[in-house]
Amino acid sequence: MASLTIRKLDDAIKAELRLRAAQHGRSVEDEVRTILRAATGGDMPADNTKYRIAASSQGAVAAQDSGKLRATLIISGGIAAYKSLDLIRRLKDNGFIVRCVLTHAAQQFVTPLAASALSNQRSYTDLFDPASEFDAGHIRLARDCDLIVVAPATADLMAKMAQGHADDLATAILLATDRPVLLAPAMNPLMWANPATRRNVARLIRDGVRTLGPNTGSMAEAGEAGVGRMAEPLEIAARALEMARPPARPLDGRRILITAGPTHEPIDPVRYIANRSSGKQGFAIAAAARAAGAEVTLVAGPVGLPDPAGVTVRRVESARDMLAEVDAALPADAAIFAAAVADWRVANAGEQKIKKTASGFPHLDLVENPDILSTIAHRAEGRPKLVIGFAAETEHLLANARAKLVRKGCDWIVANDVSPATGIMGGDRNTVHLVSRDDGAPDGVGVDSWPAMGKDEVAAHLVERIAAALKEPAA
Ligand SMILES: Cc1cc2nc3c(=O)[nH]c(=O)nc-3n(C[C@H](O)[C@H](O)[C@H](O)COP(=O)(O)O)c2cc1C
Repeated sequence: MASLTIRKLDDAIKAELRLRAAQHGRSVEDEVRTILRAATGGDMPADNTKYRIAASSQGAVAAQDSGKLRATLIISGGIAAYKSLDLIRRLKDNGFIVRCVLTHAAQQFVTPLAASALSNQRSYTDLFDPASEFDAGHIRLARDCDLIVVAPATADLMAKMAQGHADDLATAILLATDRPVLLAPAMNPLMWANPATRRNVARLIRDGVRTLGPNTGSMAEAGEAGVGRMAEPLEIAARALEMARPPARPLDGRRILITAGPTHEPIDPVRYIANRSSGKQGFAIAAAARAAGAEVTLVAGPVGLPDPAGVTVRRVESARDMLAEVDAALPADAAIFAAAVADWRVANAGEQKIKKTASGFPHLDLVENPDILSTIAHRAEGRPKLVIGFAAETEHLLANARAKLVRKGCDWIVANDVSPATGIMGGDRNTVHLVSRDDGAPDGVGVDSWPAMGKDEVAAHLVERIAAALKEPAA
């Protein structure tokens, strides 16, 4: 065939060609030849059909597999490797998609073909494999899974892990992962008892790796018995499931809305009315609710605190902006209004900076801001099941909190004394009283006084109470 030069190819097409060539282990030139043959109905049909079948069956598998757990199973070179073939089946029984990686030594005991046939997935053996490393495949194997199981874990592999080696596919994956790792060590009892192995295992456990076994029993070597047998595949698969599926959290599936911080009400473009709220308590509640599994929206007034991880944060300035964001964040199962919203704003806020004049002081008219707590608590439709307000008082704390509970129509008031002497406003500790409706109490209001504690602890306790209350059937 005459040679053909193609000029002015788009960069995107060139990149795609290089990718496909690497995927198929061909040169770019060969890849182009293959594509042209297929396009012109040349000698490709059989191969082409193969590709089409592979692509469509992968699509079917992908659709079938969505939502499944994924395990990368590293098989290292111990005699127990034959049991890993059974482990593949057990992991699949527990709902895992299993991708196997075999060390060089492991292939002396079992074949990649057997692992692939049992897992119904391609198995991996080589760090420098052009077909999978064209896009750093070892990083995918390290991260594109819910956990990594090493079974059997040889003394040698654990020594390398403890030292942070990455000179083959298995160790490179183990060094590059941020997923939970489960090791099932298996070796001769003297190897297991050797101080070097003891040191390495202790080091790995300190590094956060989990181990299972080895069990006690007879060894493959004639007449040898002791601690060194690999844990049974059923045990390993059960532990893997436990590790990959974190326990249910009390606010899983719940939507929680929290407000925090002060509001700023403009006097003119450079001045505003504010208060001393730091936002720390509301931010701590948002972080605690997120840690308990909730989907959290935090509407925060102007504070210098960083966004809590995993929380949707809406930053606002004024009370009216805060109400708008609260409305946008609903519906929610519970709403906790911890923000110290300014009661008033300036009706005649200046559009330009107000200048000092000789004729006297500027006159500011104050008007009432929307009452966010009361607005949401009195809502006939779309009211969160639990509406919680905060009362920051400097005198008559409980009397004011009780009155606020009734007036605002909320379910609970978290009352705290913010007199300057308490150091609560802006500080890290808080002493709160949980004021709630209680049909058994003489005035229909119950008070639960908590001891002084850190704002994080107050948040954790409050979230516990919220989770319990949301479980109760609606009154
Ligand atoms: C027949 C045979 C059985 C072996 N069984 C084990 C074993 O059960 N556990 C172990 O730690 N090493 C065992 N070894 C030694 C490992 O295969 C050797 O340390 C190897 O380098 C491990 O490589 P890997 O950790 O990269 O898989 C065995 C070696 C042979 C020849």
